[in-house]
Amino acid sequence: MRGERQVAVNGEVAALRRRVAELEGEVAQARASAQRLKYLETQVRKAQKVESLGTLAGTVAHDFNNLLVAILGNADLGARRLRNGHDPEPCLSNIREAAQRAGTLCRQFLAYSGRERSVRVPQDLNEVVRRMTQLMQAAVSSRIELAFRLSDDLPLIDGDDSQLGQVVMNLITNAAEAIGPNHGRISIRTKVAMIDSDQPGFLPRSPPPGRHAVIEVSDNGRGMGPKTRSMAFDPFFTSKQNGHGLGLSAVLGIVRSHCGAIRVHSTLGKGTTFTVVFPLPRARKRTPVPATRPRRLTPGFGTVLVVDDERGVRQLACEVLREEGYRAVEADNGDLALRLLTEQGEAIRAVLLDVTMPRRDGLSTLRELRRNRPNLPVILSSGRGIPIDGSRDQHLRFLSKPYPIESLLLAVEDAIGTKGAAASEV
Ligand SMILES: Nc1ncnc2c1ncn2[C@@H]1O[C@H](COP(=O)(O)OP(=O)(O)O)[C@@H](O)[C@H]1O
Ligand SMILES: [Mg+2]
Repeated sequence: MRGERQVAVNGEVAALRRRVAELEGEVAQARASAQRLKYLETQVRKAQKVESLGTLAGTVAHDFNNLLVAILGNADLGARRLRNGHDPEPCLSNIREAAQRAGTLCRQFLAYSGRERSVRVPQDLNEVVRRMTQLMQAAVSSRIELAFRLSDDLPLIDGDDSQLGQVVMNLITNAAEAIGPNHGRISIRTKVAMIDSDQPGFLPRSPPPGRHAVIEVSDNGRGMGPKTRSMAFDPFFTSKQNGHGLGLSAVLGIVRSHCGAIRVHSTLGKGTTFTVVFPLPRARKRTPVPATRPRRLTPGFGTVLVVDDERGVRQLACEVLREEGYRAVEADNGDLALRLLTEQGEAIRAVLLDVTMPRRDGLSTLRELRRNRPNLPVILSSGRGIPIDGSRDQHLRFLSKPYPIESLLLAVEDAIGTKGAAASEV
């Protein structure tokens, strides 16, 4: 009897063990599929981004060309006015305005096309909306009115600016395409919403209770019927002749990875509203933009080495510095810069150093220069982000291109003036 029970128990134990092994297998499989899903989502996002970059590059080139027309035209007009004894100042300020706009456009495009790895930092959704709509201006037909209702006190969310930009861009592109060649209106709204109960219709799931930042994009385009609506987020689903069906699945992937949720309301023939919500981190104040420091009005002194492969940039910096009373020497490459530093020694009290140069670039020049001059103030200047951590070099400053001359002078003055760094540099 006892023997039989023992056999039965052993059998059950063996069966349980098998079941446990099966379950472990299933869990491993589920984990692998989740990983695969995540991987596919990233791929979709990348593919869609490459696609959208093509479109954007076209519109940015178009905008750029217009700005160049304004710059060249005003330069010619200004020269003519000067020859005729008239005041060229208005032309100069038009040039400045156009160039500033070109600079903004460039920075935005670079920020959008930037790195693939996601970086979470506090983001102002309003800023993302403004930036992307500015960038897309030429892509949206002039028959379409863009209406904004951006909340004044929208708290920051943790996010990746390039990915959030992708969300805004895809929703606006789809809205514009739904309106087509007709007259229409796209409304973009941001607000804060308190969510306290289950919200039906959200993907990937109802947002958790709490405060959320909301962005809403509505259009009065052709709308969707229930069938299209139910498939809209599927990868490769498109109802368009030249569509790829990746826009909304990229949006969903990004929203999911930001712990947010998205919902669509649409009526055939009337229009569509996409609502995206992002959870708000607890109590974070908007950081005020620091006021620019008034510049000391003392003339500069000392020699500044200006290193840049672009002649126009170099000349401008040198002229500005000379007018301010500095001596300026220039180098169009890193090797020449290093040579000048050896030749002129301590006379050089600061270096303005371009990051991107052929042959020896700014970072390599910096590394080499630091061997002999660990305390020499260096201002790294670049139109892209600067790829090093400056916190370990207290004699390093950054100046992003394009810069107003005032910022250049401030940086140089600050560099040379700081704690007599240059003076103790002997
Ligand atoms: N604002 C909108 N109005 C109407 N239909 C839309 C809208 N946004 C998306 N859709 C529908 O969802 C489909 C998928 O969109 P998306 O993933 O961006 O791919 P694509 O734009 O390449 O078709 C579209 O083809 C369209 O049928
Ligand atoms: Mg699309």
